Amino acid sequence: MHSAPVWDPDQYLRHASHRTRPFLDLLHRIPELPATALGRPARIADIGCGPGNVTALLTERWPDARITGFDLSAEMLEQADKHHAGPTPGGGFLDFRPADAAHWTPDEPYDLIVSNAALQWVPGHPESFPRWLGGLTPGGVLAFQVPANFTAPSHALLGDLCESPEWRDRVGDHGRRFVHILDAPGYLDHLTGLGCAADVWETVYHQLLQGADPVLDWVKGTALRPVLTALDDDPDAVAAFLGQYRELLRAAYPTGPHGTAFPFRRVFAVARREG
Ligand SMILES: C[S@@+](CC[C@H](N)C(=O)[O-])C[C@H]1O[C@@H](n2cnc3c(N)ncnc32)[C@H](O)[C@@H]1O
Repeated sequence: MHSAPVWDPDQYLRHASHRTRPFLDLLHRIPELPATALGRPARIADIGCGPGNVTALLTERWPDARITGFDLSAEMLEQADKHHAGPTPGGGFLDFRPADAAHWTPDEPYDLIVSNAALQWVPGHPESFPRWLGGLTPGGVLAFQVPANFTAPSHALLGDLCESPEWRDRVGDHGRRFVHILDAPGYLDHLTGLGCAADVWETVYHQLLQGADPVLDWVKGTALRPVLTALDDDPDAVAAFLGQYRELLRAAYPTGPHGTAFPFRRVFAVARREG
């Protein structure tokens, strides 16, 4: 059993604009919610809400909604609470609560359950979908986005380095701890099999990052968290590991005259509960 990785909201938010765009793309595909048609405020849950900045974006589409962000990380929840909790300008309300997505069960009827870039950390999450769909109002929506970049050099090199003879005893199984997704056909099959009207797609974002070692900087906010957490008590080991990983990334993602290209594939699903 692993301890949960410690998250660093500031590091994560360093690439906020690239990380926010897929959420906006997901939002654009969410149909009108039952609450809107009935003229009442929507009730919304955001699973794995992180620092709350994308949760807050939900208020732009549903200004009077009551929105709760759920997350496992005390660090992320503290950041979300500090910057985003409370009444919203449109008459809605935002709050944040601790919850493990692996066991979360809707505690009241929701019009929308949304999750952005979080379910890849939750082994077996498709098994939770029947429970989550059962907690939706009729016509309610489950919408999520997960990174699907795990065979890309950034993530494959991390897994290989963790499993190398030098590091395997300390972090051997920490390099691929985030690989818990289905592929797009798998989500489509699963969600339609559960009786939903499902819209599933994938997109590769050809991101152009700036600054020194930007891919390392990106991964430090996410996939590297379990490794950094495991080596937390040994700064020399952290420096040695990051030095080796940095060299591998520099070779895999050379910097060009306009920046460092870092292609990133993501899978999206919007599933409406029928009836
Ligand atoms: C990459 S961040 C995404 C945060 C936010 N949704 C966003 O798009 O900016 C992943 C988040 O998932 C959370 N997480 C990981 N495993 C979780 C679990 N089992 N239950 C709830 N949250 C979890 C982490 O704490 C982290 O805040």
